[in-house]
Amino acid sequence: MKKRVLFVIAEPAALASLQSMLAPLANEWEMEFVAKEEEALAILAQSSVDVILSDIHLTGMGGLQLLTEVKSRAPRVIRIASSSCAHRATIVSALEVAHQFIPMPFTAEVLKSTIARAGALGARLTNESLRTLIAGIRTLPSLPHLYQELVAAMGSSTASAEVATRIISQDMAMVSKLLQVVNSTFFGLRRTISSPAHAVALLGIDSVKALVLSVQVFAQFEGSKGAPIPLETMWKHGLITGTSARDIAKSQDVGSLGVEGAFMAGLLHDIGLLVLSTNFPEQYGEVLANLRHDRLSVCDAERAVFKASHEDVGAYLLGLWGVSDAIVEAVAFHHHPGERFQDGFSLLAAVHVANALEEASDPTTTSGIPTPIDREYLTACGLAEHLPSWYKAAGRSPVG
Ligand SMILES: [Fe+2]
Ligand SMILES: [Fe+2]
Repeated sequence: MKKRVLFVIAEPAALASLQSMLAPLANEWEMEFVAKEEEALAILAQSSVDVILSDIHLTGMGGLQLLTEVKSRAPRVIRIASSSCAHRATIVSALEVAHQFIPMPFTAEVLKSTIARAGALGARLTNESLRTLIAGIRTLPSLPHLYQELVAAMGSSTASAEVATRIISQDMAMVSKLLQVVNSTFFGLRRTISSPAHAVALLGIDSVKALVLSVQVFAQFEGSKGAPIPLETMWKHGLITGTSARDIAKSQDVGSLGVEGAFMAGLLHDIGLLVLSTNFPEQYGEVLANLRHDRLSVCDAERAVFKASHEDVGAYLLGLWGVSDAIVEAVAFHHHPGERFQDGFSLLAAVHVANALEEASDPTTTSGIPTPIDREYLTACGLAEHLPSWYKAAGRSPVG
């Protein structure tokens, strides 16, 4: 069956040239071209669409708002954002709601591979073995209420630092854990944070929101017995990876959305490890023994036992919680980013490097076999030259 692809481009000349450029693909795709957001939504309401590609700059609600609507009305549609202005900050904010970003003008070949890439993540997270594994998990963490409240409040017109502080302050146990975390040496702040308001003012609402999520997810596993990797080790590993990914993103001038996204992705990148090792302590012990004995990568050792990896489980969970696709992608591929080549900076690149640096300096979460930095991938993305400044930003010495 032909794929149905809907294009939303306001600029008449760009729309016309796209139509003629893609005409040879008419035997593969059923294509529709519209100029306005309302026309696109009307088509979506009437018939099924597989892919929507929207220019960010439209004349009505705007391309990103349109893609947000598509995400909530038809979440299975692959969403691609496009723009002739490919500033890093634009791309990062587009990837909050789109599966992929593609700079204009693009070729038919680039568009085809972009659509294939976006579909591959969905396929990976819907495979049968992963579903069976997830179905058999006793304690699958739920999305914490406090985090949901924060997300809802921050999405409303009355969003403010005061509102966020008030929500967090309802839960005193949370407040004390939050202050303990931000004042720990791992967090690397030079001054003491004394209240949630202070934390929000200094770190920003999004960082605090990510910390609330992480703290509360870990709290759901407190008291779990026999996990072969201590909770404290995994918590520390996530926190350091998150702060390093945040520092790397900062050094790339990607704007606050990219910086906060990198922090959240780094903080939660091994959430699947938490779920697998606490729910299946004996089998996970077997994974660790096998990887040491056979010098396997952690994901290969996990696949041999569970038929899925902690990357799959973590990405599945975050996808379920509606976290942005850029974060899901970073979690899904942090050990082997080469499968997700993207030109330029991405949250995946930041988390991959931050995780590798942290594994190299403290191999307790990896049983002594740290993930190497994938230099081929970084070179292909045009990021290899930034590595020395990334090491510096993350306060690490070069590895590998
Ligand atoms: Fe990992
Ligand atoms: Fe990790």
